[in-house]
Amino acid sequence: MIPWQLFVAVIATLHSTTSAEQLPLKGPYTPYPWIHKFASLGDSYAAGLGAGSRIDWLCSRYNESYPNILHTSFLGHHPKRTHQFLACTGAASTEIAEKQASALQDDLDLLTISAGGNDVGLTVILNNCIYQFFMAGEDDCDLAIQDARERIANKTQLYKNVTQLFDAVKPKMNKDHGVVYVTGYAGFFGTDDELCNNVTWAVWKAVESSQKSQYLTLDRRVALDSLVRSVNIVLRQAAEAAGPNFHFIDYDAHIKASRGRYCESGVLEPAPNRRELDFYEWDTVDTGENRTELQHETGDDVPKGSFEGGIAERINKTLQEHPDWEWDPDKGFVNKSKTGVGGKGEEGEMGVVGDTISWMLPDSWKRVFHLRPRAHALIAELILEDLRSREAGRRKVVPDEGPGEGEHAELRR
Ligand SMILES: *[C@@H]1O[C@H](CO)[C@@H](O)[C@H](O)[C@H]1NC(C)=O
Ligand SMILES: *[C@@H]1O[C@H](CO)[C@@H](O)[C@H](O)[C@H]1NC(C)=O
Ligand SMILES: *[C@@H]1O[C@H](CO)[C@@H](O)[C@H](O)[C@H]1NC(C)=O
Ligand SMILES: *[C@@H]1O[C@H](CO)[C@@H](O)[C@H](O)[C@H]1NC(C)=O
Ligand SMILES: *[C@@H]1O[C@H](CO)[C@@H](O)[C@H](O)[C@H]1NC(C)=O
Ligand SMILES: *[C@@H]1O[C@H](CO)[C@@H](O)[C@H](O)[C@H]1NC(C)=O
Ligand SMILES: *[C@@H]1O[C@H](CO)[C@@H](O)[C@H](O)[C@H]1NC(C)=O
Repeated sequence: MIPWQLFVAVIATLHSTTSAEQLPLKGPYTPYPWIHKFASLGDSYAAGLGAGSRIDWLCSRYNESYPNILHTSFLGHHPKRTHQFLACTGAASTEIAEKQASALQDDLDLLTISAGGNDVGLTVILNNCIYQFFMAGEDDCDLAIQDARERIANKTQLYKNVTQLFDAVKPKMNKDHGVVYVTGYAGFFGTDDELCNNVTWAVWKAVESSQKSQYLTLDRRVALDSLVRSVNIVLRQAAEAAGPNFHFIDYDAHIKASRGRYCESGVLEPAPNRRELDFYEWDTVDTGENRTELQHETGDDVPKGSFEGGIAERINKTLQEHPDWEWDPDKGFVNKSKTGVGGKGEEGEMGVVGDTISWMLPDSWKRVFHLRPRAHALIAELILEDLRSREAGRRKVVPDEGPGEGEHAELRR
């Protein structure tokens, strides 16, 4: 028997290289005939912020996100399958329950959910501990980490909120076979050596400031990874408690095994275009992307409440407080009066900032700490693997669907 994986690979290839008219007359094989209604909920990790091309502005949904590639290729051909792509950048689980779950169709066969990162304040931590888009005080990183730890540990916070989200989607699932995949997060940093200890990604580091830049020290990296793992543990527990049709997808170990994190052993950051890197870094350029456009053009305005909007607001706030600081795409953030670039005469340009905040942020900066396409493909593959094993289980217990019969019937069509 030909392995499932091969079918899926062949179908994926067909989809990506040929247009509909070029497909053979014989209908392609349908590996999951029972999945008619597919939907995906969640935050920027499900929206796929930055991966591929943007297919929705307000929520920053991208076409290489795991939900989109599941529907367009990984799940294989199915003429009747629909996908409600509801994930939205910046959403926490309460908002996902209120705005996204309520929009779900009934009788869903497959649902994916990514939630929890915004509940514990991932963006605040990124700001206070890594990039300092707004120059927070020295203690603000530790405070943000402490706050996240409390939200994770407190059963009436993260656990309760994701549980409410899971409860909200239950009535929307097909009673017999509806299946829900809850995807987690992955630790961001390698923690095997101290090479990154003297590295800072603080964006205003070039200007003189009374605030100290944050560094990617080993302690800091260990603390941030441990937060991610704790979020995953809560998500797994909540998914297990939600019932037998909820499954947690843990890809953390895979990202680690393939050296996909920042500061992997022997890697001195910045190394934004290391092939194995699974997260976007300042100046990462994916295959097929235009380096010049990404690094020097700022694209459209960014939506309020989104991940990118959060960065923009913080930088705006900084510039309001320090009108003599400016962003120069070729040189990074510089103190204009100090370096003499442009000179005081151009201060009037600061007025532009208020209206079009994105003007000063190159596109390649707006997706940091989010997954690159290869990591989305990994998540999609792990979901498929689980579906396959369940499919095999179903065939064992349902005799009239005998092993492989469905496949061959489909193939002969
Ligand atoms: C995403 O969009 C880009 C640009 O249109 C295209 O090259 C790529 O094949 C698309 N990927 C998927 C998975 O559809
Ligand atoms: C959980 O939801 C409540 C109500 O919306 C909110 O006040 C609280 O901040 C949320 N907790 C977390 C960890 O998101
Ligand atoms: C847990 O969070 C709730 C708010 O949801 C708060 O009232 C309570 O004091 C917190 N418990 C602890 C131990 O921090
Ligand atoms: C950081 O440390 C490494 C190894 O000791 C060294 O090669 C590198 O130049 C240092 N970087 C900075 C910015 O000091
Ligand atoms: C910018 O440079 C000028 C001239 O050296 C200096 O007076 C000013 O304090 C600097 N501003 C900041 C925020 O570092
Ligand atoms: C990349 O974009 C720039 C600016 O739009 C353009 O001039 C250049 O031709 C593009 N390069 C490629 C290889 O498409
Ligand atoms: C930038 O900050 C100013 C002053 O705080 C505010 O009026 C303006 O709305 C902000 N712009 C954006 C895009 O956040």
